[in-house]
Amino acid sequence: MDNKSRKLTEEDLDKIYSIAQEVLKPLWSKKEYQYFLTQPNSFCWGMEDSEGLACFLLTLLIGTEVDVVAIATRKNAQGQKWARNLLKHILSLPGIQQAFLEVDPTNEPAVRLYLGTGFQVLGIRKKYYEGKKDAWLMKWSR
Ligand SMILES: CC(C)(COP(=O)(O)OP(=O)(O)OC[C@H]1O[C@@H](n2cnc3c(N)ncnc32)[C@H](O)[C@@H]1OP(=O)(O)O)[C@@H](O)C(=O)NCCC(=O)NCCS
Repeated sequence: MDNKSRKLTEEDLDKIYSIAQEVLKPLWSKKEYQYFLTQPNSFCWGMEDSEGLACFLLTLLIGTEVDVVAIATRKNAQGQKWARNLLKHILSLPGIQQAFLEVDPTNEPAVRLYLGTGFQVLGIRKKYYEGKKDAWLMKWSR
């Protein structure tokens, strides 16, 4: 990763939440982000450009497994491979063997991102989003 990427902590909560507010639906509360950021197995990595934080990837590391909690890129920084690079970085961490995530199948950029990084559809989680919309459960294996 280039030198503009770094580990994010609870101190970055406001910056993370500002991107989430701009691009993520459904939007979780700030407290929910804080909860994930302060878990002992939380691993959050971000990329900065001249405007500040451009993209973040929030995960939980469970043994050899990555659980992707959220990934988002500031609107005016999208399409520059920030998310792909962050995801590749985390999947290349020593010892990581597999990764899981849920995605809205109608979220084209996200689906392209995950398929392009080697994730495959494992199944469908019924009524996953707000008790209404289905999600794809996706898995990546080394
Ligand atoms: C999904 C998201 C994180 C991708 O971030 P990004 O930094 O733009 O990603 P990349 O530049 O690495 O591009 C990833 C793929 O998305 C595609 N993409 C980017 N913007 C797109 C758009 N507006 N429409 C369609 N595809 C798009 C890219 O073409 C690329 O696919 P390709 O390599 O097959 O061409 C970003 O669109 C985003 O923040 N979306 C809102 C939050 C979200 O939905 N997160 C995922 C669910 S938690």
